[in-house]
Amino acid sequence: MSGRAASDRPRVVCLAGDGIGPEVMAAAQRALRALAPDVELEERLFGAAAIRAVGTPLPPETLEACRTADAVLKAPIGDPEFDAADVRPEQGMLQLRAELDVYANLRPARQGAVDLLIVRELVGGLYFGARGVREDGTVFDTCEYHPREVERIARRAFELARARRGKLTSVDKANVLETSRLWRRVVHEVAADYPDVEVEDLLVDNAAMQLAVRPEQFDVLVTENMFGDILSDLAAAVTGGLGLAPSASLGDAGPGLFEPVHGSAPDIAGRGIANPAAMLRSTALLLEHGLGRPEEARALEVAVERALASTPTPDLGGTATTADVSAAVLRALSG
Ligand code: NAD
Ligand code: IPM
Ligand code: MN
Repeated sequence: MSGRAASDRPRVVCLAGDGIGPEVMAAAQRALRALAPDVELEERLFGAAAIRAVGTPLPPETLEACRTADAVLKAPIGDPEFDAADVRPEQGMLQLRAELDVYANLRPARQGAVDLLIVRELVGGLYFGARGVREDGTVFDTCEYHPREVERIARRAFELARARRGKLTSVDKANVLETSRLWRRVVHEVAADYPDVEVEDLLVDNAAMQLAVRPEQFDVLVTENMFGDILSDLAAAVTGGLGLAPSASLGDAGPGLFEPVHGSAPDIAGRGIANPAAMLRSTALLLEHGLGRPEEARALEVAVERALASTPTPDLGGTATTADVSAAVLRALSG
């Protein structure tokens, strides 16, 4: 925690985002107000809304507010209007992750016998390498990792595996990529400090197949930025869908960033039918990892479970609206 005196109220910066963002953020804020009324919620401009208002997705005041907050709660951003534009909402999101240096993106997926955690490196790799256009028209993106960047995410993953079932799967493409060979070497160097954790390597294409057919074999998976992006949507799909999948992005110091795995869902935006569970579960992760309040986090998780069982949204085969789920969560919290 950072940026405040012990007597002050905890400050959470809320970024409502685009598309279904404001719809699921409203549910998260209602739950937070009910559960932790002392927490100060501060709204800031971000994403497509910020591009429209001030021409940039991450205005300096928003970044400063996030830096000095105790935690950042972020709804999804992204708007088809800006897909081909020079200035895009996604740029603000990558910049925010990098500025907060939240390199460890925890993406849990749980259902029935499946209980896995994807630990995605979040501030390096293909997303942040040199890119451009050559004179002949060739366009390029590059993937780079420094051993230090691999070491810190590997260490974090081993720590998490140690506190869970003690199994770590490192996912790479070491049969092709230089960065993956570095990844594998560093993971095994770090493994020497964690003799109690069983470590295995898995090539990313096989990892995708294994996740689809036998997800229950996994405990913690650690992987680079883009592989983690893709595999986490797949892990969500095999454990109930994107509407349920939360994430926590943590650094070594400073505020964490908490957001759903899913995007702004333009195909259902404005209809009030988005599943707010991923956003609510991200809020539970914020309570636990961002504010150090595991009891309230657990209470919210249980309330979300109950609400989903009684009032499923269309993505789960039901007919409930976002507001119905939100109301059911509040009822579960108070009773
Ligand atoms: P998406 O995750 O927004 O949607 C994929 C599918 O899942 C859609 O059919 C959508 O309706 C459904 N879905 C997603 N969340 C749901 C929810 N809570 N309840 C019910 N259904 C849900 O992916 P996309 O359509 O490829 O991307 C849309 C935009 O979101 C893009 O601009 C993309 O860049 C952005 N995006 C942002 C984030 C983020 O802010 N963290 C994450 C992913 C994508
Ligand atoms: C996610 C999203 C983002 C990512 C996009 C919107 C930049 O897909 O959070 O999973 O790839 O990190
Ligand atoms: Mn993604």
